[in-house]
Amino acid sequence: MLWDSGQRRCRLSIRVAFLLTLASFGLSGPVFAQASGSNSHAAALTHSPLTDPAIEKRVDALMKQMTLEEKVGQLAQYSSGAPTGPSAGNADYPSMIGRGEVGSLFNLDSVRAANQYQHIAVEKSRLHIPLLFGLDVIHGFRTTFPVPLALASTWDPSIVEKAARIAAQESSAAGVRWVFSPMVDVARDPRWGRIVEGAGEDPYLGSVMARAYVRGYQGKSLRNKESVAACVKHFVGYGAAEAGRDYNTAEISEHTLREVYFPPFYAALSEGSVSLMSSFNTLNGLPATANPFTLTQILRKEWEFPGLVVSDWTSVGELVPHGIALDGAMAARKAITAGVDMDMVSDSYHQHLADLVKSGKVSQPRLDEAVRNVLRVKFALGLFEDPFTDESREVHGALPKERVEHARLAAERSFVLLKNSGAGSRPILPLAGDPGTIAVIGPLADDANNMLGPWSGRGRPEDAVTLKTALEQRVGAGKIRYAKGAEFQTASDAEIQKAVEAAQGADVVVLALGEEAAAQSGEAASRAYLNLPGRQEELLEKVTATGKPVVLLLFSGRPLTLPWAFEHVPTIVAAWFPGIQAGPALVRVLFGDVAPSGKLVVSWPRTIGQIPIYYNALNTGRPAGDTDLTHPPTNSPEKFVSRYIDEQNSPLFPFGYGLSYSSLEYSQTRVDSSKLSAVGMNETLRAVASDKSAGATASAMVKNTGNRAVDEVVQVYVRLTGTSMEEPVRKLVGFKRISLAPGESQTVSFPLGADAFSLWDMENHLRVEASHVQVWISPDSSRGLPVALEIVE
Ligand code: NOJ
Repeated sequence: MLWDSGQRRCRLSIRVAFLLTLASFGLSGPVFAQASGSNSHAAALTHSPLTDPAIEKRVDALMKQMTLEEKVGQLAQYSSGAPTGPSAGNADYPSMIGRGEVGSLFNLDSVRAANQYQHIAVEKSRLHIPLLFGLDVIHGFRTTFPVPLALASTWDPSIVEKAARIAAQESSAAGVRWVFSPMVDVARDPRWGRIVEGAGEDPYLGSVMARAYVRGYQGKSLRNKESVAACVKHFVGYGAAEAGRDYNTAEISEHTLREVYFPPFYAALSEGSVSLMSSFNTLNGLPATANPFTLTQILRKEWEFPGLVVSDWTSVGELVPHGIALDGAMAARKAITAGVDMDMVSDSYHQHLADLVKSGKVSQPRLDEAVRNVLRVKFALGLFEDPFTDESREVHGALPKERVEHARLAAERSFVLLKNSGAGSRPILPLAGDPGTIAVIGPLADDANNMLGPWSGRGRPEDAVTLKTALEQRVGAGKIRYAKGAEFQTASDAEIQKAVEAAQGADVVVLALGEEAAAQSGEAASRAYLNLPGRQEELLEKVTATGKPVVLLLFSGRPLTLPWAFEHVPTIVAAWFPGIQAGPALVRVLFGDVAPSGKLVVSWPRTIGQIPIYYNALNTGRPAGDTDLTHPPTNSPEKFVSRYIDEQNSPLFPFGYGLSYSSLEYSQTRVDSSKLSAVGMNETLRAVASDKSAGATASAMVKNTGNRAVDEVVQVYVRLTGTSMEEPVRKLVGFKRISLAPGESQTVSFPLGADAFSLWDMENHLRVEASHVQVWISPDSSRGLPVALEIVE
């Protein structure tokens, strides 16, 4: 199946609802015309489960009955259970709920607790408005899938959609009808710990994955009891935290916001995500949680988003340390005025909003609109009809087979084979059917908990199968020599020595090294060094020195810079954090039951000095060219070019890269038309039309020249020159995962239209311009020969 972003596709308009919204802001007709007319910056969102006149009617009726305090109550959210951030907020939830002072709770630890709170809300509060229960369900609820960075590495949105659906079924059975996912922050800096939670560095791939999550979570209908509301986050620029330090400031031009950072949000919202979370960071001088440009101008006016905006954890209160608010009242005023509907944990709305409205500092229409945004979601979920969760729905025993199998499939497709050179003439992987004795070494070889990765929802270590266990099941415990070798941060000489001895006595060594999931990856886990923590590199060097064939499995939430390993260790797999089926999935790939097929969604740097590093960069006026492949590149003939004097520009492994167990050949890329009309494509950007009609089709033949069946992710990139704004050296515009039997060839075609060729111009309008285009169909972002075409006026 071919995946296109569909980002700018128009469907049914929601303008009536939007008109109501604007009316409640006291905005007049001309503003509406500006937001929706032919000059609009981007097509307004056209598909939302919230744009339903029946819902609007019920919201109207309820609003009429609500007091100011009850309205404010709907905008307060608290964490009840293990906290996922600093400070707990308020605490006396039962009495607050009874007084109608709470709209949402999250982090609850059981369905029973949810039902108990819900009883108070619907039986004791005056208007019986149900609570909305949320949770960070990032890569599964109990069935823990690979971390999102790994899920994206499958380049398979159907895998992601099904994983999200399973997560929705399990979450909803636990009373959770709102998941704080997908995280769609584009991230170009692996020092940032939260790179693990997203789909990597590319806006196109990020958009495809964002849509897949939303489809899975929200299903065909939000009213379905197994559906949950998605919450796309963190709006916006959080992934561009300076120096990769979590919560740090971001500076991003409006052009780059539109080209790179907005698209996955737009994609998730146009797929119907009913909520969005504002981010912690300051963006261009203004904290994102008090940013009217992003939260109102873009989100409400340009995109016409009808849903709920929740702050991040205490990010309303954090406007005080940011320095743009002197106290909680000022913070509350700035956040709600900018467009944040619900205050997560900081208690600022609860404490101050009623007074702010009474004194006229916050307008009644803005308050009302925020409340409407919350109520719409509650109605759409059917919470008023059915506020409780049947406690028998939750699975307590073994996980259903189908879920476990999906976790295994997702993991298998997420591993990226980075290097597979030989023992002698033959690559080490796949292992022979009977590889002899296997030494299994490393802190991650038998650690179920860490297989789950950071943010593992309600994942249970007892559901996870480790590499050691799976290998024992495969070849028999007698053939496995296990030595932990090191802890994450420490190791004794004796431990390392034991591991070396295990290796010496084996025919092949599998090393499982990497990061400690939650401590070294995820939120508040930015790293200034991207090496293997503790003494693991020493362990690796000593084990490799035994001369035994070594397979290094890297478990991490980000690329790691390991120059020695990449030079000396013959076989290396990026295994990420694979989830509950880590062991079985790895074993199947190691033994070649299935070939590795994941591809990198982030450029893998040679050194941290290259960061931020991403493939879709601008060329500069003095490009270094790609000719100098020596390391370090000391003898380049060119001095005054954009390069390092002590390292190459290129990453160690480019975006889109991943090896397999076969060899593939790509033919020259072809296009069926060498001249296209910009006018025709611009029509499709503005009108309700298929954006394929005015484009070209690119195709290439891909042949499996080896003797193993493989899956290949075929990618298509474009570069535009002669445009009004500088465009990246390559931009992903499509991809397709295909299966190829040995010797088989397939012609892979990509229809390319306005979506592929449009750019944001100087006036921040999306359009196709007269330009020269190069098109590559290639196995990654660095290879292939382009074909040219021209776009004329
Ligand atoms: C902070 C994180 O940034 C956000 O992603 C998460 O959803 C909230 N905490 C709630 O746990």
